[in-house]
Amino acid sequence: MKTAIAHSNIALVKYWGKRDQRLNLPAAGSLSLALGDLTTQTTARVIESDTDQLELDGEPAKPAVLRRVSEFLELVRQRAGTTARLAIASSNNFPTAAGLASSASGFAALALAASAELGLKLEPRELSELARRGSGSAARSIPGGWALMHCGESEDGRDAVAEQIAPPTHWDLRCVVLVTTRGEKAIGSTEGMNRTMKTSAFYQPWIDSVANDLERARSAVAARDFEKLGDVAEASCLRMHASAIAARPGVLYWNGSTVELIHRVRAARANGIPVFFTIDAGPHVKVFCPPSALDAVAALASDHALETIVSAPGGAARLMEAV
Ligand code: PMV
Repeated sequence: MKTAIAHSNIALVKYWGKRDQRLNLPAAGSLSLALGDLTTQTTARVIESDTDQLELDGEPAKPAVLRRVSEFLELVRQRAGTTARLAIASSNNFPTAAGLASSASGFAALALAASAELGLKLEPRELSELARRGSGSAARSIPGGWALMHCGESEDGRDAVAEQIAPPTHWDLRCVVLVTTRGEKAIGSTEGMNRTMKTSAFYQPWIDSVANDLERARSAVAARDFEKLGDVAEASCLRMHASAIAARPGVLYWNGSTVELIHRVRAARANGIPVFFTIDAGPHVKVFCPPSALDAVAALASDHALETIVSAPGGAARLMEAV
């Protein structure tokens, strides 16, 4: 039996669009920070069975989720040259149903636990490549810290992997997740991306803008330039959502509280508080700030966030020692 843990991550330069569906290759690079306080722990164990088993937060998984995980495990089996089935037990220390980025930490922890249980010893870049097959953002949870996901050029995806460009200790920032609703999101990220690619006139301009954002974000992280990082992160987030909103039918992840919180973050910043926001394929708002601004973030969120989750930067996915 092998147990792995991995942290969720939030992109500051977003990934939105695929250049290959089957291999899950991104159409552009992305840049993220791992969230040390949002963790998935996954155990993989070889079983005598014709089918894989999956338990999520102590409950048997829904058939559609089991199917997606089993397809992923098939890739690991092929690589390990085995037909062995696995029992997977995975739990998050954050609310999954709220549509938080559980696929990133989930597939990163699964890639590590399952490959180790089937006897594979993969290098970090091979693990990142494998995790990417489960979910694009999961590739970034393998190196953790400040991670740069390469778009890559190769058709087989071997260079579409993430690398750590700075460790979690590089910059003492906090990410505050402002949870605005309890329900699961209406449109999954793959469907949202595909519809944007196929029908949005703003898709190509969005993709064309990413390389420049990546360069700016990279230098902002290196220089710990909060203002510059906030500027590029908000621009990347808004452009990604603009391309999605312009799809037919429009892919709109925001609710009223999302919009209200965007305004409040901007108003706080105009009043001298160091904050910026980003939003993924859901209605929650993620606010970045130094620890000294946490009280101000809690105050601005008060009547529009059902829950707030504060996280410090996190490290790479790792195997836990057997006890
Ligand atoms: O990893 P996926 O397929 O769930 O896509 C993630 C998409 C965004 O969260 C919206 C952006 C990102 O880069 O994480």
